[in-house]
Amino acid sequence: MKIAVLPGDGIGPEVTAEAVKVLEALDLPGLTLFDGDVGGVAYHRHGHPLPQETITIAKSCDAVLFGAVGDPTCDNLDRHLRPEQAILGLRKELDLFANLRPAKVFRGMEHLSPLKPELAAQIDMVIVRELTGDVYFGDKGVRTAKDGSREGWDMMNYSETEVRRIAQVAFRTSRARGDKLRVTSVDKANVLETSQVWRDTVNDAAGPHPDITLSHMYVDNAAMQIVTHPGDFGVILTGNLFGDILSDLASAAVGSIGLLPSASMGERETEFGRFGMYEPIHGSAPDIAGQGKANPMATILSAAMMLRHSFGMDAEAARIEGAVEKALADGFLGGDLGGSHGTEAIGAAGRERL
Ligand code: NAD
Ligand code: IPM
Ligand code: MN
Repeated sequence: MKIAVLPGDGIGPEVTAEAVKVLEALDLPGLTLFDGDVGGVAYHRHGHPLPQETITIAKSCDAVLFGAVGDPTCDNLDRHLRPEQAILGLRKELDLFANLRPAKVFRGMEHLSPLKPELAAQIDMVIVRELTGDVYFGDKGVRTAKDGSREGWDMMNYSETEVRRIAQVAFRTSRARGDKLRVTSVDKANVLETSQVWRDTVNDAAGPHPDITLSHMYVDNAAMQIVTHPGDFGVILTGNLFGDILSDLASAAVGSIGLLPSASMGERETEFGRFGMYEPIHGSAPDIAGQGKANPMATILSAAMMLRHSFGMDAEAARIEGAVEKALADGFLGGDLGGSHGTEAIGAAGRERL
């Protein structure tokens, strides 16, 4: 079991260290960790946010544990040298087109949510976000507008092939959850041609799944409904940009962005399971970096997703999730949740409860 650990910038190394300690505490036979540089750290050391050596390490492993990238001192570099290109480049290079972002309120933890407890208790959704297409990866540039001013442009596009494969992941995810078999596809088909192709293709892909209730919702309405009727959602299927925005929203509904893990998957199989990259949905949080304040739970829960999806270790994954849930219930809350526990204390509390 080879895992590439790519801590990155800001709080990335702080939260990744706690997730690695949790993995080590499980004493998994044959676990070997490899380190690589990504993001601003890699730019400063090697002149590029995603050095070839890091790509090689990631490809040679069975899974990747990723912290976060983003460094304010790099915000004015040419775009291809910015830290964020590391995560975008890895997703594209490794063809990780399916991003699963579960948002769930653990039982008894409703008070962490800003929603009314009866609504918070209903939050149990997975956002299935397409990750290698959309306006993120279309052509882009800056040109001169008709009035002579500077004009930025970014091309949004989705092919039927791209939509079909992520829709299939959403239907499979719904079935694996085994709950009410609901998929809500979120788009902006009332305005965007990209979204009309998306919607038509999702309807086609639903053909073999007559028992799954598929509905379509415009993204603006979805943002509202996630807050007002969170219980209506099981699987949310959406594109790269809408999924990015809605997942931060869903994390806030749960209580904090410091709680939401993610798995990014493609189709490559290893000898243990499916290759994937696992990371919290949050960024490098420059405002709290270096202060030992970051909540590591999202990254620890991402390590649990890794064991489940890339190594078929469901029992070990459940042990980690149970430990995080207990640590939360026992009041190990970071500043993001109104508590005062630091990164290491929260990590230790999780390990003690494994
Ligand atoms: P962010 O997620 O880094 O932070 C948003 C807010 O949430 C901040 O107030 C931060 O302190 C807080 N926060 C985030 N994670 C937390 C945690 N684990 N514990 C406690 N509080 C936490 O988003 P941002 O400020 O918009 O972006 C900062 C940098 O991170 C940017 O450079 C951005 O591009 C990058 N970014 C990277 C990723 C990634 O690597 N996957 C994701 C999002 C943003
Ligand atoms: C995320 C992040 C990234 C994204 C950025 C850093 C490129 O916000 O993983 O949610 O937009 O996908
Ligand atoms: Mn994001």
